[in-house]
Amino acid sequence: MYCLQLLFKASTGTLLLVLCLQLGTSKAEEDTSRRAIIMNVQVPQKARANDEVTLRLNLRTELHECLVCKSYLRSNVTIDGSFNYAYTSCLCEDNEKNHYWDFRPNRSMAIVAVVDVIRELNICPGDAAVIPIRANRYFYSTNLAVQ
Ligand SMILES: *[C@@H]1O[C@H](CO)[C@@H](O)[C@H](O)[C@H]1NC(C)=O
Ligand SMILES: *[C@@H]1O[C@H](CO)[C@@H](O)[C@H](O)[C@H]1NC(C)=O
Repeated sequence: MYCLQLLFKASTGTLLLVLCLQLGTSKAEEDTSRRAIIMNVQVPQKARANDEVTLRLNLRTELHECLVCKSYLRSNVTIDGSFNYAYTSCLCEDNEKNHYWDFRPNRSMAIVAVVDVIRELNICPGDAAVIPIRANRYFYSTNLAVQ
């Protein structure tokens, strides 16, 4: 989290950003026997300036246990409104979650969708949730070209 903010403030490139993210993180696509987090991101790759764009994040888990997930977006440009919203949800097997962000980009941007598996009470029923020991941050990065 700190790493992310630091990098975005410095307006560094995507490569550095991804390198930074990889410290203590795991790519969502990582092939292990049962994946804790499976991220699927849908967002256009191109948009016209100030047109509304929707990013959809689909989350699934293959664990039998539930996870408390905090999902948010980061970008290398400052953008107002719901882009900055963080969703906290309880993710359980056979119960996928979809989160949506609507925003109006006015210039080309790199976007990173981040999911942190966190320890927070009163999100999952009976607080029956786990934190994976291998990695608790998952991300997906993409670019949006704005004309
Ligand atoms: C985009 O919007 C931001 C914030 O509203 C503004 O500071 C910036 O100058 C705008 N950039 C362009 C290229 O219009
Ligand atoms: C942000 O990233 C995008 C995609 O990599 C790039 O086109 C754009 O120039 C970057 N903007 C800034 C302000 O760094």
